[in-house]
Amino acid sequence: MSNPISDFFNSIFTPKESRVLGIDIGSSSIKVVQLKKKGGKAVLETYGEIALGPYAGTDLGRSTVLPPEKISEAIKDLLKESNTTTIDSGLSISIGASFIVFIKMPTSEQSHYAEMVPIEARKYIPVPISEVTLDWWAIPKDQDTVSEFQNGQIIEDDKMTEILLIVINNEALNKNIEIQKNVGLQTSFSEVEIFSAMRAGVEPSIAPQIIMDFGAGSTKVFVVERGVLKASHVINRGSQDITLAISKSMNLSFEEAEKIKIREGIVSSDKNGISEISSITIDYILSETGRFIMNYYKKSNKKISKIILTGGGSLLRGLREKAQNSFETSVEVADPFAKVEYPAFLDDVLKTAGPEFTVAIGIAIRKLQDI
Ligand SMILES: Nc1ncnc2c1ncn2[C@@H]1O[C@H](COP(=O)(O)OP(=O)(O)OP(=O)(O)O)[C@@H](O)[C@H]1O
Ligand SMILES: [Mg+2]
Repeated sequence: MSNPISDFFNSIFTPKESRVLGIDIGSSSIKVVQLKKKGGKAVLETYGEIALGPYAGTDLGRSTVLPPEKISEAIKDLLKESNTTTIDSGLSISIGASFIVFIKMPTSEQSHYAEMVPIEARKYIPVPISEVTLDWWAIPKDQDTVSEFQNGQIIEDDKMTEILLIVINNEALNKNIEIQKNVGLQTSFSEVEIFSAMRAGVEPSIAPQIIMDFGAGSTKVFVVERGVLKASHVINRGSQDITLAISKSMNLSFEEAEKIKIREGIVSSDKNGISEISSITIDYILSETGRFIMNYYKKSNKKISKIILTGGGSLLRGLREKAQNSFETSVEVADPFAKVEYPAFLDDVLKTAGPEFTVAIGIAIRKLQDI
């Protein structure tokens, strides 16, 4: 039986546990992760995923574009199914709703940024500045030279600062605010998905690494060096394109094609040529990535040390090996759950589920650091 006096003292002296949700609103599904802070560590309490196809009246696994009411409905269902117990959260913003640009400014004086960055930003943003929200930070200097000609004069390296400018469409931010209100969440930030993936997907390294997020609708490719984003590129093909190609060429429903894609990957010797059909999309994505890597090398003179695959599409059988052959660089599949503690019996399931949850874990880790 519970002792009211000890309950009272426990409630005073037991440190309050902080719990948070990371919610990734992907195009094909929403993912949630609940973390708890315990003894300075992040502990996984629950996680879950819900497909958005049915909320758009289409197939499971399809990419969707949904209004905030439908997304809110899906999140409510997801939180219920996953038995989450907090409303403190952070939400993702799709890279498609943002614009990332690197600018150089002839000052390293932080106090000048608030005034100068928006003025400089106008040169790069194709829409009125009133329609977007700006965020930026100065990239710490390394041994790279950051010198530039301006008005006929060489600006000295130490006076030039490289700024990472993130431009987010206000419409997307307002959509998240509406979702937060509908669902009854207490959300303190919305973060562009690639920053969340960086936090959960890579170990900080001096040498540049690439993260490839194989989503359903698109593949996001970006370079991370010393924990800082250095370049990014979105390829408008994703794992859904493989399913669509299989469905079309074999005259199957989307759901049947999805099952075949997952079963066969690009290693099958199936007589219907599944592997060849799937490889068309993969070859396109890998060759676009190869071009991006080459451009980065030309610009920075730095070689990529490792490629990390994430997103559900990275689970395609044979993809890691194919990417490794194609780039002649070490290629790994992300294991974002390694950043948190969880019961040992979940090990196998989380290793497989991991890549789909990279963004959600990255958001939850940031939220946990904030509180
Ligand atoms: N085991 C698997 N093998 C192959 N593909 C898989 C596997 N598991 C999931 N996928 C594919 O991963 C995709 C979903 O990945 P993810 O959840 O990362 O996308 P998303 O976040 O909804 O999309 P986006 O990032 O484009 O907005 C689907 O196309 C799905 O078919
Ligand atoms: Mg995604």
